[in-house]
Amino acid sequence: MDRIVEGKARIYSYKSEKISSEMPVFYNPVMTENRTISIIIARSFFSRPIRALFPLAASGIRPIRFILEGVDLKEVYINDLNPRAVGLIKKNIKLNRIDNSNITITREDARILMLKERNFDYVDIDPFGAPNPFIEPALNAVKHKGLLAVTATDLSSLAGSYPSTCKWKYWAIPIRNHLKHEAGLRILIRKIQLIAAQHEKALIPILCYYSKHYYRCFFQVLKSKNKALRIINNHRYLKYNPDTSYELIDEQCGNTYGPLWAGLLGDRETLRRAVDLSGEYEDKNISRLLSLMLEDVSLNIPFFYDTSALLSAGVIEKQPRIDSVINALRENKFHAFRTIFSSTGFKTNARIRDIKRILSQLLV
Ligand SMILES: C[S@@+](CC[C@H](N)C(=O)[O-])C[C@H]1O[C@@H](n2cnc3c(N)ncnc32)[C@H](O)[C@@H]1O
Repeated sequence: MDRIVEGKARIYSYKSEKISSEMPVFYNPVMTENRTISIIIARSFFSRPIRALFPLAASGIRPIRFILEGVDLKEVYINDLNPRAVGLIKKNIKLNRIDNSNITITREDARILMLKERNFDYVDIDPFGAPNPFIEPALNAVKHKGLLAVTATDLSSLAGSYPSTCKWKYWAIPIRNHLKHEAGLRILIRKIQLIAAQHEKALIPILCYYSKHYYRCFFQVLKSKNKALRIINNHRYLKYNPDTSYELIDEQCGNTYGPLWAGLLGDRETLRRAVDLSGEYEDKNISRLLSLMLEDVSLNIPFFYDTSALLSAGVIEKQPRIDSVINALRENKFHAFRTIFSSTGFKTNARIRDIKRILSQLLV
């Protein structure tokens, strides 16, 4: 076994040549970012002590970091179906000298556990691949005004490599170009919102983002028929044009994708606090991601343009630097900012004809 330090936690973890679900107990160092952002969001969202449930906990690194890194917890449930994981969780709690008087460790199928145990303020669904089997039980376990956190790593279906899989798993048509990750994330959001709506629950995005190989969504859960209906009324289709322009429309027709969530990807107040808290972690990628998401949510411009895509579509003849594009758009009094969804992408309220004019001036 290896000893690993992540954030303020030290844990034992099994050695493995390759990160996969075949590991004796799963631990992926790449998901440090996912865990750190979860801590930041929990701290930013809640202003009182919370009951938290980690039904798919593996080594226990996530709840251990929540405990050590300032999330105000009054009770913690940690669970995994793998008996070796449960043994390791107990060992890792001891290793970090954590008082376990308010910690319950179980070995159950997460779906059954979440049907039995309820009234959690925070439930963290972090599965292998698709989160689908766990959503309905998780909605039972999280209480009104609580936070549901969901990871999805099956990007191949959501981002368009396997459109038919996306159709049966997520009830939507994915797009396979530069917009694929924003569309994939919004398809995932809509699917989870639909499952909640049938239980008269509205899921309000607090932060939904894409990074590396995963999508992650934090939703506030509200028990309200009217709010659930308002959410559903914001599910729309993405229409994509050959010049790379796009619109959100209500009917399916040629070149349409989705349906998908057309609303905000986060909550401005929570994200403001999150950006401040991210300063405590020396991770520039996390600060950048949260700052860009704050900008996204503040200006609320779904989808974006992309200099590579504009070049491929023949809309521009040379590819300008992304910073100069943003500056030029702003000089022309448009909103413009970078996006987490593409390194060559920019979000703007300018229309394609203005973009074309401004970029052609920039490139002379
Ligand atoms: C991706 S890992 C979780 C990683 C962990 N949350 C972290 O941050 O390191 C998924 C975990 O879910 C567990 N698991 C899979 N299906 C389960 C089920 N039905 N009930 C409970 N645990 C399950 C696996 O044993 C595995 O440890």
